[in-house]
Amino acid sequence: ETKPRTPVVWLHGLECTCCTESFIRSYTPVAKDLVLSMISLDYDDTIMAAAGAQAEEALEETITKYKGNYILAVEGNVPLADDGVNCIPGGEIFLDKIKHVAKDAKAVIGWGSCASWGCVQAAKPNPTHAVPITEIIKDKPIVLVPGCPPIPEVMTAVVTYILTYDRLPPLDRMGRPKMFYGQRIHDKCYRRGHFDAGQFVEQFDDLGAKLGYCLYKVGCKGPTTYNACSTVRWNEGLSWPVQSGHGCIGCSEPNFFDKGSFYEHE
Ligand code: SF4
Ligand code: SF4
Ligand code: F3S
Repeated sequence: ETKPRTPVVWLHGLECTCCTESFIRSYTPVAKDLVLSMISLDYDDTIMAAAGAQAEEALEETITKYKGNYILAVEGNVPLADDGVNCIPGGEIFLDKIKHVAKDAKAVIGWGSCASWGCVQAAKPNPTHAVPITEIIKDKPIVLVPGCPPIPEVMTAVVTYILTYDRLPPLDRMGRPKMFYGQRIHDKCYRRGHFDAGQFVEQFDDLGAKLGYCLYKVGCKGPTTYNACSTVRWNEGLSWPVQSGHGCIGCSEPNFFDKGSFYEHE
């Protein structure tokens, strides 16, 4: 309570803003407590009150005043094609902006599958040549929090961990926090017993679907997806994709858009 709040700068590259939509729905801690009492969110061009030149001035002021001590959070990826002209927030090429802000950051958080792996914008044929932030920022500690979007409580927990311990949480070899991405969806899925017993949904409207059988044969990617949905769940722990009757599409895995996660019309 006596410590000064850590300044956080949140940049938006090429993205859909649903990572922010997810973040603001965190239940524990409540996102407003995190934003208003735990960190000092000095710049976030999506949810800050200031806009235009006033907002950009706040950004410059923060990164100058807190040089080496602010956290950079990035939502979205970086398009490189045509000198980065496909993403120009605040009139500045995002490629230049992220390099400029990352230069004096203490650590970097990559929100969502866009920042972590490229996600939808980087799906084939990737017309804007969108790349994850790790291809641009090479000299800073980076924690990746993939998912499209990530689970709200996972996002706020990562920030809380950094604030509490003044370091990044333990990461796996792909840069994700082990505590949330250390297990596959399949490992803790409540339908796992049906998988082991060979009881599968064959079609979405069959008896197996009504009985809550395993969704593997209708495309569930839980066995190859590392995320916390089957334990933390969504909407204040109320439900998650598999519980709603649809298989996991592997939204936190690299290149899930190109891995046959979606339906194809014949
Ligand atoms: Fe949107 Fe998904 Fe990208 Fe997040 S990771 S900004 S939810 S497209
Ligand atoms: Fe695994 Fe998916 Fe079946 Fe759950 S529904 S047991 S995650 S294959
Ligand atoms: Fe995404 Fe699969 Fe969770 S689709 S939201 S990782 S259950």
